[in-house]
Amino acid sequence: MIERDQLKDLVPHGYAEEDERKLDTRDVNYKQRKKGLVTMSQIKWSDSMSVNNAVLDAQHKEWIAIYNRMDNILLHGELGQLDNAVIDAFKAMQEYASYHFRQEEEYMEEIGYPDRVMHKRMHTDFDDQLYNYSKEIRRGDLVLGTEVMSILKNWLLNHIMREDQQYCVFLTQKEADA
Ligand SMILES: [Fe+2]
Repeated sequence: MIERDQLKDLVPHGYAEEDERKLDTRDVNYKQRKKGLVTMSQIKWSDSMSVNNAVLDAQHKEWIAIYNRMDNILLHGELGQLDNAVIDAFKAMQEYASYHFRQEEEYMEEIGYPDRVMHKRMHTDFDDQLYNYSKEIRRGDLVLGTEVMSILKNWLLNHIMREDQQYCVFLTQKEADA
């Protein structure tokens, strides 16, 4: 189970200050980076994120890796190639989220988790959100910068560490009662 103070360390804070501190003003891309085209905030896997299921844990790790790759592209990518790289990275995030959600929903069904309908709705809403972002990024109406990355990061952490923990707690309790 996650304690509140553990969560505090994982959820991003002080984004602006962190970005400013790490930016190198000698970098030729500094102005672009300063405009918020990049983030500097990776997610680190922690055992407290575990849902006590090896397959789903591995999927959560992969999902985090995809997020981190996206963050890396924004930080180190060549500006001329950034658009395509960002579109590809975002597509990977979208596809993996969708794949993982279906697997997790099957698992919740299998274990008889009573709040699975509500949980599934959260997945669907996030799927929709990713779809809309993706559409806007392709059209050039949205820049994938600190704001969107921060929203994605918060969602991932909050979902894995709070919502997904609920089915984990349920199963532990169910097994203890059996
Ligand atoms: Fe979930």
